[in-house]
Amino acid sequence: MEELEQLDELLDCWDSEEPRNVTPCTVVIFGASGDLTSRKLIPALFRLYLGKQLPDPFRIVGLARRDKTDESWRQELRAAVEQFARQRSIKESQWAAFEKLIFYCQGDLTDPEGYQALKKKLDDFGDERLSGNLLFYLAVSPSRFTEVVRRLSEEGLVNKQAQEVHWQRVVIEKPFGHDLRSAQQLNREITECLHEKQVFRIDHYLGKETVQNILAFRFSNAIFENLWTREAVDHVQITVSEEIGVGTRGGYYEESGALRDMVQNHLLQVLSLVAMEPPVMLDAEAIRNEKVKVLRSIRPMSAAEVDRQVVRGQYFGGEVNGETRLAYRSEGRVGTLSNVETYVALKLYIDNWRWSGVPFYLRTGKNLPLSVSEVRVQFRPVPNVLFAANPSLRVDANSLALRLQPDEGICLGFNGKLPGSNSRLEPVLMDFRYHTSFGAYTPEAYERLLLEAMAGDSTLFIRRDEVETAWAFVDRIREVWGDRALSNREFYSAGTWGPEAAETLLNQGGHQWINPQKRRKKSKG
Ligand code: BG6
Repeated sequence: MEELEQLDELLDCWDSEEPRNVTPCTVVIFGASGDLTSRKLIPALFRLYLGKQLPDPFRIVGLARRDKTDESWRQELRAAVEQFARQRSIKESQWAAFEKLIFYCQGDLTDPEGYQALKKKLDDFGDERLSGNLLFYLAVSPSRFTEVVRRLSEEGLVNKQAQEVHWQRVVIEKPFGHDLRSAQQLNREITECLHEKQVFRIDHYLGKETVQNILAFRFSNAIFENLWTREAVDHVQITVSEEIGVGTRGGYYEESGALRDMVQNHLLQVLSLVAMEPPVMLDAEAIRNEKVKVLRSIRPMSAAEVDRQVVRGQYFGGEVNGETRLAYRSEGRVGTLSNVETYVALKLYIDNWRWSGVPFYLRTGKNLPLSVSEVRVQFRPVPNVLFAANPSLRVDANSLALRLQPDEGICLGFNGKLPGSNSRLEPVLMDFRYHTSFGAYTPEAYERLLLEAMAGDSTLFIRRDEVETAWAFVDRIREVWGDRALSNREFYSAGTWGPEAAETLLNQGGHQWINPQKRRKKSKG
């Protein structure tokens, strides 16, 4: 217990920040009984409450079909917070104060009565700010997004025109469409009822501290930004690997696959932050303008290039860290002959002044040996003279690894001379770790994202043109894959780094994947 309290003290370091300027409001969660609500949203709101980041007054209303009372929902959430919140030791008094802000409203998303009941609940708070300033969080099936937005508008709960006195915003979870056409249609439908400024499309990677730090790192350090060009960079590797398989999400995954589930959003978002030009200022539109330019500059691929530059894979049985894993085709709600990819590796080029000719390699997969998200910038090798001309010496090219999770940090690789009279070289690392410099915790992505949405800052959310451009890229690849069955060489054993072809993809360019390593908790003294 003592240990837990110490952890919580560390957490409190993060709470000493100036609160964000958020006006009193109500957060309304559609899909109140769902997993996202109990695992992420309520624990994040609880942390924000403890960190005194929420406005006063403030309310949370959950809407779902099941029959519950405020009291029974609060009890459920209490158990969820104990299980999932960063705060491990929950003080009775803290929870008692927080739960007073939570209310439940029974209603069906398809039934106007549910919206009327919601309206009444909001009015009963007896404060115009709580019934007027509304953040709707759609943690519901994507097939319901349009309907909910339309009904909110019909019932007068959101207003596209008048946002001067009170504001209403809608947070939309991923997946935002399943291809370009459906994303465009969804955009058209929701923007009939909402202004683009009221739409907050989530990509939870943008809520991660380390992902935000990509911009801070690039644009507050002259030495690195000067090297961020085709003259100095040989290639870039972006890896988002996961130890987990698809688990209970087989049904969803059969419809999405790794390309739609991870590449269309998280990997392309990280890519755009790594490759973008400096924005003219640090506001939402300036940053998103630059990000979308990167996505638009990705060189389109012909069918032959897709075949050469994109590798897909699917796991069969194996072991991940000593645990036996089923083949994807044996997972629940997965077709026994499914050709859905659980792994993608690809090479792309960004055809702009800065990056012309520099390959960017992206890969992601499930049931890989480690869960790591990392960006690795490999610099050009030194010329083949002096040390490099000596075949008995190992001279590695410099690298810069931005470790997004876990063991968040930044690591610069260079060569050092081994002490002694010989002239042997050894690759060494200069290592910055968040937890040693800034303390053990960084805020959960959802804490930051909820707060930004309440504050009305859409920098960390995806704009309409970003989402559509990303779909266009992914659609092209899917179109070439078509219904083609997976070949034997496209399978990989669970617990390995993916199919052979992913290695070949890099070898062809004279490169190789640098697989992230498991890190020790503390750096050597
Ligand atoms: C989600 C995907 O968006 O991101 C999941 O749907 C994936 O399949 C998850 O597991 C990964 O997120 P994180 O934060 O654990 O890297």
